[in-house]
Amino acid sequence: MTRLVITGGTLIDQTGTRAGDVAIDDGRIVEVGTAVTGDCVLDASGCIVSPGFVDLHVHLREPGKEEAETIETGSRAAALGGFTAVVAMPNTDPAQDCVAVVDFVREQGRKAGLCDVLPSGCITIGRAGELLAPFGELAAAGVHLFTDDGNGVQDAQLMRRALEYARPLGIVLAQHCEVASLTKGAVMHEGACCSRLGLPGWPSIAEELMVFRDIELVRLTGVPMHFLHLSTERSVQLVRQAKADGLPVTAEAAPHHFTLTDEMLSGYDSVFKVTPPLRTAVDIAALKVGLADGTIDAIATDHAPHAQHTKEAPLDQAPPGMLGLETALALAITELSGSGAAMTLEQIVAALSWKPAAIAGVAHRHGRPIAAGEPANLTVFDPTREWSVVPAHLASKSRNTPYAGRTLRGKVRHTVFDGTAVVVDSAATR
Ligand code: DOR
Repeated sequence: MTRLVITGGTLIDQTGTRAGDVAIDDGRIVEVGTAVTGDCVLDASGCIVSPGFVDLHVHLREPGKEEAETIETGSRAAALGGFTAVVAMPNTDPAQDCVAVVDFVREQGRKAGLCDVLPSGCITIGRAGELLAPFGELAAAGVHLFTDDGNGVQDAQLMRRALEYARPLGIVLAQHCEVASLTKGAVMHEGACCSRLGLPGWPSIAEELMVFRDIELVRLTGVPMHFLHLSTERSVQLVRQAKADGLPVTAEAAPHHFTLTDEMLSGYDSVFKVTPPLRTAVDIAALKVGLADGTIDAIATDHAPHAQHTKEAPLDQAPPGMLGLETALALAITELSGSGAAMTLEQIVAALSWKPAAIAGVAHRHGRPIAAGEPANLTVFDPTREWSVVPAHLASKSRNTPYAGRTLRGKVRHTVFDGTAVVVDSAATR
């Protein structure tokens, strides 16, 4: 076996921050210390070495929409973004509502060998919101997170039943919070900007009502729930209160929601169309406070690749969603840390690694402390390196990044997955 050694970096994990070299052999960390030697050296000078990142929310499009992304291209984008595990959303075609499909997704991830691809399962068959999916079978097949993402579960009684069936299985239900009757035909956030542009608005309350309803269902049942891609100030307040009440709720925010406002739609460019929509500066400020005080547990990308020709449709017909995997870390560092910092690097790493690892049910393998004996899933990133986003340079099969031309700070240098360097010097090795 080749002994890999990461030298000269600053280690950040849940036990603290310190200088150290890390040696890896046969998939595990075998030594942490100073002047550690090995057969193959990864230089980490000027870099942070952290537990591998875990993305709770990616759309890999396979099966069904391979023209936009495949599990292999999405896994490569994930590795380049520093992720060693990603939760694959179930809005594939066919949907991930049966064991055959989740097994296929996991197997394609295994074949790509760039990160762990963790299939989520649907809450309802076909994400149609009518019949519960076979939670027991899916849980037995290794599914931990269940969601109808892309759709919220509209029927409160069905959601209550879902929570009750989830209880003995120890699985987590993750809600896409959207009351559909309030968002019919909506294209962007309902506010001054949408009135000026003459576009149908998506009110904040469409999200907040479902956050509120589901918090009350968690209070009733005591069963944990995760809130996907929160985007409004009031949603953050509701989750903060629920946590203060001791309820088992967790939440995530996507980089685009804490970096871009609805004003971006002023040019009617569909690259800025996303669900839930880009909101206002007030909402961005609230998300940042929520991330900093731990109300929002995780940064999750909602990586949503779409083929160019579909995004070129008129705004009302273009699909919602934007790329996220390769820019998430840099957006977090650029927008959440620095002078007048809302978050320290340690907090950012927590929101990208061990906190989402726990929610995804993979805390035995990802987001582990950097110590001898632990699985070697690690991210090495330079928090000061500036780079420009060039869509053609991204590994994703799609190009729908809203950050084209933006200069960001923070870049992944190496990613080690299962003991293998899958990214070296910011390039994928496979
Ligand atoms: O913008 C979004 N795109 N939000 C979702 O919830 C679904 C996703 C997609 O699948 O494209």
